[in-house]
This record gives sequence, structure tokens and C-alpha cells, in this order.
Amino acid sequence: MGKVSSTKPETMANESTPLIQTVRVGPPRRRYPHNTVRRFCTIACASVLLCGFATFLLNAVYIWPSWRDHRHPHPPHHGHHGHPPHKGKRLSHEELQKILLDTPSSEKAEEWSRYYTAGAHLAGKNYSQAEWTKERWEEWGIKSSIVAYDVYINYPSDHSVSLLEKSSDTKTWDVAFKASLTEDVLEEDPTTSAEDKIPTFHGYSASGNVTGSFVYVNYGTYQDYADLVAAGIDFKGKIAIARYGGIFRGLKVKRAQELGAVGVLIYSDPGDDGEITEENGYAAYPEGPARNPSSVQRGSVQFLSSRPGDPTTPGYPSKPGVPRAPADETTPSIPSIPISYADALPLLKALNGHGPQASDLNKYWTKNLGLGYKGVKYNIGPSPDDVVINLFNEQEYVTTPQWDVIGIINGTIPNEVVVIGNHRDAWIVGGASDPNSGSAVLNEAVRSIGKALEAGWKPVRTIVFASWDGEEYGLVGSTEWVEEYLPWLSGANVAYVNVDGGASGPHFSASAAPLLNQVLRDATHLVPSPNQSVPGQSVGDVWDGKISTMGSGSDFTAFQDYAGIPSVDIGFGGNGSGPVYHYHSNYDSFHWMSEYADPGFVYHRTMAQVLGILIGELTDVIIIPFGATEYADALDGYLDKVEAKLQSVDTELATEAEIFAIRGSVTSEEVVGSQDAFEESLKRIRHSISEFRDKAAKLDEKAAWARDRLEDGIPWWNLFEKAKLGYTIATVNKQYKFIERHFLFEGGLDNRSWFKHVVFAPGLWTGYAGAVYPGLVESIDAKNYSNGLKWAEIINHAVEKATRSIE
Ligand SMILES: *[C@@H]1O[C@H](CO)[C@@H](O)[C@H](O)[C@H]1NC(C)=O
Ligand SMILES: *[C@@H]1O[C@H](CO)[C@@H](O)[C@H](O)[C@H]1NC(C)=O
Ligand SMILES: *[C@@H]1O[C@H](CO)[C@@H](O)[C@H](O)[C@H]1NC(C)=O
Ligand SMILES: *[C@@H]1O[C@H](CO)[C@@H](O)[C@H](O)[C@H]1NC(C)=O
Ligand SMILES: *[C@@H]1O[C@H](CO)[C@@H](O)[C@H](O)[C@H]1NC(C)=O
Ligand SMILES: *[C@@H]1O[C@H](CO)[C@@H](O)[C@H](O)[C@H]1NC(C)=O
Ligand SMILES: *[C@@H]1O[C@H](CO)[C@@H](O)[C@H](O)[C@H]1NC(C)=O
Repeated sequence: MGKVSSTKPETMANESTPLIQTVRVGPPRRRYPHNTVRRFCTIACASVLLCGFATFLLNAVYIWPSWRDHRHPHPPHHGHHGHPPHKGKRLSHEELQKILLDTPSSEKAEEWSRYYTAGAHLAGKNYSQAEWTKERWEEWGIKSSIVAYDVYINYPSDHSVSLLEKSSDTKTWDVAFKASLTEDVLEEDPTTSAEDKIPTFHGYSASGNVTGSFVYVNYGTYQDYADLVAAGIDFKGKIAIARYGGIFRGLKVKRAQELGAVGVLIYSDPGDDGEITEENGYAAYPEGPARNPSSVQRGSVQFLSSRPGDPTTPGYPSKPGVPRAPADETTPSIPSIPISYADALPLLKALNGHGPQASDLNKYWTKNLGLGYKGVKYNIGPSPDDVVINLFNEQEYVTTPQWDVIGIINGTIPNEVVVIGNHRDAWIVGGASDPNSGSAVLNEAVRSIGKALEAGWKPVRTIVFASWDGEEYGLVGSTEWVEEYLPWLSGANVAYVNVDGGASGPHFSASAAPLLNQVLRDATHLVPSPNQSVPGQSVGDVWDGKISTMGSGSDFTAFQDYAGIPSVDIGFGGNGSGPVYHYHSNYDSFHWMSEYADPGFVYHRTMAQVLGILIGELTDVIIIPFGATEYADALDGYLDKVEAKLQSVDTELATEAEIFAIRGSVTSEEVVGSQDAFEESLKRIRHSISEFRDKAAKLDEKAAWARDRLEDGIPWWNLFEKAKLGYTIATVNKQYKFIERHFLFEGGLDNRSWFKHVVFAPGLWTGYAGAVYPGLVESIDAKNYSNGLKWAEIINHAVEKATRSIE
């Protein structure tokens, strides 16, 4: 096992800051000594000239990008067959926006959706979709290539789930029920009868053939298991039946495994579908909007909050021939299988009357018990010894190529890059929502940008489009790519924009690094909403405006949490009161999309407009459109949350101490360190944040000043003002670009050192949801205030570093 060394982000940051640009424009200055004028000038005069020349060059780089184009014309973009760029014409920002709003079409989006959902495209299994995507992008004028990684991955071979009962007279095991483990074929929905249908299985699940009595574990959260342990359930040799929801599925398996369980089944309870259930009188898909009882949620059971990416190449790209680590650090050792609620019913009913009922535990156990009307009493179990489940799971593990498609448009400023990505791989033949509504949307955005290039546009920043493979198994394609290009990305990447499921309903939702909040809000207000119940309203007007913190569960993770690149994740979806979304099921099909989720593909078009406009805002404006003050305010707000958690620590202590006592690891006496000292250290962070906020506000003011100057224009003779503007722009952009990097801690988080960001990480035991200041929060959870102090220092240092960087 060896580790390919990757350059430290901070080092890289220093290597290629825009200051280098000013240095790079240095050589021409050497011509001055030969300038006859200079010899007769005073020092002041020379300064003015230097100033003027610097201005000229800075303007050349930042203010009149066309200057470079005309001096060094680029060859026509590949793929512009017969459409050479209109030479000399440059698009105004408004003209660009018009193209980005006018180009996306519902018909085209529907065509792309139809293509991607026509055949199986499980990670590493469909090269032709990668090639097709590359060909389309090139057709639209974007130079593209396919980047391959050799990744460790599993494909399903065989499986079965049986309920076995020992007959009282013969003492032999009878199969009382055998789960179908397949989703019903529906006449109305051709995808469901596809010949290359993908079986129901879990990505990165372990093979195994296990038999044991079983326990209902609610959502399988850390606390759910803790409650069961507290109730005296011994998981050794048992099979856990968890319901989907709340946390990332892999963590349900992780905790079961830690507690000694031998297998896990995870089912979709209709109770979590809100109003739209058969119990409430809605017909099930395909007749109506309720969940089809046979639907199964496939998905990865990687331990996502420990580390995403190829489990065998921690922190370095999965290139052919690289050394491989064992996978067991981030993948389960016990088998698991996803099942439908139709298949779960007989298993849950077999628990009736055994052990306490959910309602005997606590309020967290009686939420959304959707199968009561089918006779399920939600007893915990365990099932008696003569009623067991046999779980058989056979997975084939291989190391096999996966293909990211990468398209690049060079910008005027070489070391400022914006990456826009969506994954292409799906668990099923369809995937009309996840991910291919995003893929259709991305294609329409790429096509729009291509149209703008054709009309003579040249972005200020380099644009990189990515169609990732392997997201579903563990963000594999994006993680390996970021690991490979980390040195370049650390120095150049300004922002990452992610779209996963892009359009499966009318409700816009977003999570973002706070630096990007404002540009995101601005973009949504430039795009008309398809909902014109109030005439003229924009996407931003209809949107509730909530921006979540970055967690994990999609391809922004390596950018945000590993490389410190401010990221945003956007899409339209349901809000829980529309048709049930058959996530990772055969019923996330083209038919479902066109009948229920986005009839007419209108939200596909709108999403492509939002994405295009956002790309335009990020790459066509000279000053990076970040809001540093909003970051400072967010840091302050997150600290409130930490303090609130600390205040309620006493009540938590009682239960957690109890749990740890039962498990025999930590006792209630084992509070480590002083809580008072820890609280003091939080005050120091608070103080540092307030200093950061002062500087951040000044930075935003400087940016606003420069923006105004750019807009108003500066008379040609005012060289000093021009130099000042050029210098300000270079400084502001450099400072904005690197703010987020300062929040990386090279040592990484406790026990999961791949995660480098000290502010954002997936929750250790939630996975999807974002944790803020994970080092502090986890120390409070562990009641280890010594560790909390350590983290307070690390965080304080990061805030101070960020403050110094923008002084
Ligand atoms: C790949 O995807 C295309 C388009 O969806 C489909 O037609 C084809 O059958 C798939 N190929 C494989 C090998 O699954
Ligand atoms: C699983 O193991 C049992 C014995 O423990 C055996 O009878 C059964 O055939 C095995 N199942 C498969 C599919 O190999
Ligand atoms: C972009 O710039 C790089 C490096 O300067 C160059 O190698 C590449 O060919 C350029 N790409 C395009 C599409 O012009
Ligand atoms: C449509 O817009 C109206 C007015 O803003 C709003 O009340 C309603 O919730 C919106 N409906 C959807 C589905 O977004
Ligand atoms: C979802 O959106 C619809 C339409 O805007 C609204 O009527 C409903 O109250 C929302 N439901 C939830 C759970 O937010
Ligand atoms: C790291 O994990 C080990 C073993 O699971 C645990 O005992 C330890 O407390 C963890 N350390 C921290 C700092 O969380
Ligand atoms: C508490 O944190 C300290 C410092 O990080 C560490 O050395 C120690 O092992 C931790 N103690 C426990 C019980 O996790």
C-alpha cells in the first residue's frame, strides 16, 4: 500500500495566485530602461508610466479580454463546423443572458432524457453513453475528452431472502415466505420490462449467506440502535430490518455491523410518503401517484461519511496499476439487501407480538408507521429462535474502468476555473430523475454555452463541464478526478456547480457554500418560473429561498470538503406532497417523468436556464461574484448551533452515558477535559469570526467599488484610477478565490482524515445532512472536551488565516 503524494492545497494556492500574473506581466517592464523618455523623466514620471503600463496589462487581462484574443487569435473551436466565431463582435452580458435563456428547449431535454433512460447505465457498464455525451458536446462546440479510472466496484450476481419457520412436529425448517426481490413489470411503463434490467442490490455490499432471528430497527440511526441496545437487544448474529429515510443507508449498515449483526434488510415504508399513500385513497403507480408496493430503493452502502471515492485508493486517483488498499475501511463486511414494502410485510408481521412495540420506546419510534393498516404492529422483536431470516447475497467484485466526460472552454484568465458537473450513471435502466434529468439539463446548458461561443462570446474564466461516472457507488468519478487534478484545482478552481436530479418536480432547492449564496439568488431571479400563477414571477420569487449547508450524497463532496472549493448543488424536485418519487427504483423511468414528475419537460428547460445563467454570472463577470460577509455571518450562525448543542449536553449525557455503559466502552465518568475551558475556546472563535467579518465586509466593499468603476467606466487619461482598478480587481479576485481554501486542515477530521474542511462535512452518523464545525460537534458528542479544545484551536487558526488572507 502506497500513497501517491498530492501537493498540499495551501502550497498550491501560493504557487499560482493572480499575483503571479502581475509578476508574469513583469518582463515587458525591462524594456523601460531602453525607453529614451525614461532617461529624462523624474522618478515620479517613471512611476506614472509604470502605473500606466501596469494598468494597460491589467486591463488587458481583466477589463478588455478581447485584447488578448485579437493579439493571439485562437483557432476556431473544434466542432464549429461551418460556424466560425463572428470575429470582432463581442457579446454584452445582456446578450449572453439572452442566449442562455432562449436556447434551452423542453423538446431537446426530453430527447436527451429519452436517450439516457433507454438502456442500462450502471457505473462502468455503458461506455457508449460516455462517448455519445462527448460527441454531443463536441457537436455543440466544446472540446471534450473521456477520462478513465480503474475502480473497485461490485455487480450483483445472486440473492435471496427467505422467512424460515421451524415446524413444531417435524423440527425441520419450512420456507414460510420467499421475497420476490423484483419490481413488478408494468404494461404502461416499458422501462420496467427492459431486458437489461438491473437487479435490486446495494453498491459495495458484502457477499454472504446468513441466517438469524431478526430485529426491527426503525430508521437505523445511531440513536435508534442505541435505544434498542438500551432496551436489551443483543444484535450478535441477528439480522436488522431498517426502514429507509433520515440518514444515508450505508450508516444503517455500519452501525448494525459494529453491534454484531450479521445482515441488514432495508425497506421503503409508505408511511414516509406523506399524504400520497394508498392508505389515504391514492392509487399506486402507474394508475396513480402513490408508491408502487413492489418498488425498491437500490443504492450504495459505502460508509460515505468516512470517505467517498474508490475504497481501495484513499486520497489518490484510481489510475491503472496504482497500489490498492483493502476496501474494508469504508465498505461493510456484512451483507445487506434493499427490499420493497410488499416484501417487508410478511417479515414485519412475523414480529407481531415479539418484544416491545415501537410505541413502547419513544416518540422517534412512532413516526410514519405506514403499514399499520396492513396488520403490522411494529414490534421490535427479536423474532423467536424458530422464526428466522435467511439472507443470501452474492456480489462480484471487480476493478474495472469508469468514464468521466470532461469538456473545457478556455477563459481569458487562465488560472480561474469554474467546474459544472452532473453524474450520468444510474442504478436502473431509467434514472429519468436521478441523475438523467440533471444530464438532460446539463446538455441543454452545454448547448446554450456553445451557442454563445458561436455568437462570439469568450468567457473570462475557464469553464469545465463534467459528466461523472460512478457517483452512485460513492461519488467515485468526481472524487477520483478531484484527487488527480488537485494541484491544478487548488490553484485555479473558483467554484463548483453540481446538478444531480435536476428536474423531478416544481420546487427549487439548493445547498451551497455561503460565498455563493448571493450569486445563486441573483441567478434564480433572472429566470422566469413556469409557474405564472403570479404573472412575471421568477424562479427566485417562487423559491422559499432556503439554502442548506453542504453535506454529502453528491459529486460536490470532493470539491467542497476535500479541496476547499466553494460549491453549490441545485435542482427542482417534489416537496413531499406531490407524486411519490420512486428513488433508485425501476419506476424512476421516462414514463414516470413524462406522466407525473415533469410533464412537458418544462422544469427541465427552466433548470437548464438557471444553470446557464449561473454559469454566465460566474464566468462572464470580471469580479468573482462572491459574498465574503455572508460567509462570516454563516460562520457565526454555525457557532450558535454548537453552543446550543453544548447547552443541552446534560440531557444528552444521561442517555448517551447509559448507552455507552451498556456497550461497555465509555462510562458516564469518562467526560474528558473541562467543559468550561472548551466554552472559553468557543468565545475565542467568536472573536476571530468578528474580525474576519470586518475584513470580509471591506473585501465586499472593495469588490463593489470595482464593480461600480467598471460599470461607469474611467476616462482614458485617468491612469492612476485605472491602475487602482486593475490592482483592486486582481487582489479581490485572488482573495475571493482562496478564502475557502483556508478552512482546510491538512490533518483532516478525526478518524476520517480524507475530509479536510473544518466547517463543512457530512454528519458522521447522517451522511447526507451537513454537519457544521464537525470537530467541535463530534467532540461534544463524545464528551471529549480536550478534543474539543484541540478543534477550537484548529478552527480559530483557520479563521485567522482566512482573515489575514483578505487583509
Ligand atoms: C447504453 O445506453 C444506451 C442509451 O441509453 C443504450 O441504448 C444501450 O443499450 C446501453 N448499453 C449497454 C451496454 O447497456
Ligand atoms: C446458504 O447456507 C445454507 C446453510 O447454512 C445452505 O443450506 C444454503 O444452500 C446456502 N444458500 C446458498 C444460496 O448458497
Ligand atoms: C486551452 O488551453 C490549454 C493550455 O493553454 C491548451 O492546451 C488547450 O488546447 C486549450 N483548449 C482549447 C479548447 O482551446
Ligand atoms: C406557484 O406560485 C404561487 C404564487 O407565488 C405559489 O403560491 C405556489 O405555491 C406556486 N406553486 C408551485 C407548485 O410552485
Ligand atoms: C408543497 O407545495 C404545494 C404547492 O406549492 C403546497 O400546497 C404544499 O403545501 C407544499 N407541501 C409541503 C409539505 O411543503
Ligand atoms: C476514533 O475511533 C476510535 C475507534 O472507533 C474511537 O475509539 C475514538 O474515540 C475515535 N476518536 C475520535 C477523536 O473521535
Ligand atoms: C479525547 O481527545 C484526546 C485529544 O484529542 C485524545 O487523545 C483522547 O484519546 C480522547 N479520549 C477519548 C476517550 O476518546
